[in-house]
Amino acid sequence: MAVMSDPLPAWTPSSWNALAAEQQPDWPDPQQLKAALTELCAMPPLVFAGESRALQTQLGRVAEGKAFLLQGGDCAETFAAFGADAIRDKLKVLLQMAIVLTYGAQLPVVKVGRIAGQFAKPRSAAVEQVDGVGLPVWRGDAVNRLDATAEARQPDPSRLLRVYHQSAATLNLLRAFTRGGFADLEKVHVWNQEFVAASSEGKRYAAVAEEIERALRFLRACGVDVTNDPTFHTVDFWTSHEALLLGYEEALTRQDSLTGDWYDCSAHMLWIGERTRNPDGAHAHFLSGVGNPVGVKLGRTATADEVSALAARLNPDNVPGRLTFITRMGAASAGRVLPELVRTVRDQGLAVVWCCDPMHGNTFLSGSGYKTRRFSDVLDELRTFFGVHAQEGTVPGGVHIELTGEDVTECLGGAQDIADMDLAYRYETACDPRLNNQQALELAFQVAEMLRP
Ligand code: PEP
Ligand code: CO
Repeated sequence: MAVMSDPLPAWTPSSWNALAAEQQPDWPDPQQLKAALTELCAMPPLVFAGESRALQTQLGRVAEGKAFLLQGGDCAETFAAFGADAIRDKLKVLLQMAIVLTYGAQLPVVKVGRIAGQFAKPRSAAVEQVDGVGLPVWRGDAVNRLDATAEARQPDPSRLLRVYHQSAATLNLLRAFTRGGFADLEKVHVWNQEFVAASSEGKRYAAVAEEIERALRFLRACGVDVTNDPTFHTVDFWTSHEALLLGYEEALTRQDSLTGDWYDCSAHMLWIGERTRNPDGAHAHFLSGVGNPVGVKLGRTATADEVSALAARLNPDNVPGRLTFITRMGAASAGRVLPELVRTVRDQGLAVVWCCDPMHGNTFLSGSGYKTRRFSDVLDELRTFFGVHAQEGTVPGGVHIELTGEDVTECLGGAQDIADMDLAYRYETACDPRLNNQQALELAFQVAEMLRP
């Protein structure tokens, strides 16, 4: 990868177009694309600049070790799996995990969903062989359909509008749930779904919920106005997705009337994926000009020079909370690769949030042919992440997880001991395998142990 060599164009929302952008679809009809993007430009923003700034402030506390980041959701949202129950159940599991982490680690938890915009996927190859026929790969519902036909795989820019509208409806429900009483601390027990409640994690969660309810009764008895203090009744819940399709992101980028700065108003936080993280590339250039907090995935081939170059490009003013490095090295590589990167950042005095994605470096094809991950590998990578930061005196700031609120069977192991032959039972992901509700809760208990002061 080139490192900070060529001069880059001055930043505007569209200046990324002067650079070669990786992983963009071959839209067949430029006029149709232009029409869709023009329509998106006229749409209201999904989030406000002030919200992104508030998230950045919270992430600044994460960078200092005074809060912990929990980022999670589907690998890919889809049009087919859209519905109120799925959104509610994903929120439930994230709220449950946040409670377990807050209670166990005694730290505020910054809650960020991979939701309300996570519709575009980077792919390792542009073409896939299906029954001897080469088809363009599925690039997420933002681009084409998953069905294995040439017609379905044709990129269709009108899908970008559907992404916008589904994101708006999803975000609307999330705002209603988190402001309207569902996320009330007095309702912690309600987030334990029926099928989880009987499991060992469900019981462990119920015990934490009971403790919290006792603590609230205690506060009331002491005269604290629990009923009227909004702290107990609402939560901040933020949205994020991979900023992959730069045309879409550009179309939702707006100038903040308060500060004059540009914000990508498609989500509160955006990240750059492992395949598009060239510090001199179009994705880093685009995100360098928006005021949102940004993340960058770092896989096992990331070098110290790339990490410095990314920080220089994306966070030249070294603002805490602006930049999150999301490491996804794999359980077998993290111990070898992570320490040097962490030391580089530490020794250069760079303000970053270190977040561990223990999912994407641990994917493999099971014997029965499913793309899967072992829960034990996920925990191993997390343990290495915490171990490296303890050793280097740096802050393990958060976790980034692919999960669902449902009872799917996509990842192996966990307390349910899901085996290869069980994967077929409920393997529903459109892309990467997700932790199910019980596995996600189990992970939260384990991470809380790792975080315990
Ligand atoms: C993802 O987060 O779904 C993803 C594709 O990650 P990465 O860029 O780390 O491979
Ligand atoms: Co994924």
